[in-house]
Amino acid sequence: MKIVIVYHSITGTTAQLAETVAAGCRSVAAAEPQLIRIEGVDIQQGRYKNSAVLEVIDHSDAVIFGSPTFMGSVSAQFKAFADATAGDHWVEQLWADKIAAGFTVGTGYCGDTLHCLHYLQILAAQHGMLWTGLDLAGAGDVKAPNRLGAQAGLIARAVDSAIEAPDLETAFYLGQRVARIVSRLRRSGL
Ligand SMILES: Cc1cc2nc3c(=O)[nH]c(=O)nc-3n(C[C@H](O)[C@H](O)[C@H](O)COP(=O)(O)O)c2cc1C
Repeated sequence: MKIVIVYHSITGTTAQLAETVAAGCRSVAAAEPQLIRIEGVDIQQGRYKNSAVLEVIDHSDAVIFGSPTFMGSVSAQFKAFADATAGDHWVEQLWADKIAAGFTVGTGYCGDTLHCLHYLQILAAQHGMLWTGLDLAGAGDVKAPNRLGAQAGLIARAVDSAIEAPDLETAFYLGQRVARIVSRLRRSGL
């Protein structure tokens, strides 16, 4: 079960979430997470040029998208990656039926981070992917997983450029949940 975690990070907080999501995937038997960091060097004249990354995703069972929230949406680098999927990948719906999920981080208590997560959901929908949110109620306990109460995916809040324990627990859980769902679908022959 190949699960790609494709993300962009500048100061490292999204990267920390990505690594923890991968650890959550690894906790499920036969899950093989692969981390792919979107690198600015792959963006030339505004266009993301690394076709090898898209090919890795072609051969995956699930994709977990991660971006910091920048001005209420994904970072420009993540968007350049997303725009690079608008050719054959979109036209021929090459990623249709893959499981998808997403995560973001901001410094605001709200920070319009849900809008970033919604963008990731729309990206997955444009590719005909099947979105997996969180089955964690997030009942307002600030020390519990999903403390910010987002069920569309993981929203974390960075404090002094670090991710706090409840958000890391949520990241682990998200990775585990995606891997479990892929595993269950495989067992049922879908
Ligand atoms: C250009 C820019 C725009 C940002 N916009 C937002 C925002 O709209 N909402 C928010 O909560 N945080 C915002 N932030 C804070 C980042 O999301 C936060 O620092 C995040 O942890 C950065 O992720 P990284 O460590 O993976 O690079 C912004 C930061 C930058 C540099």
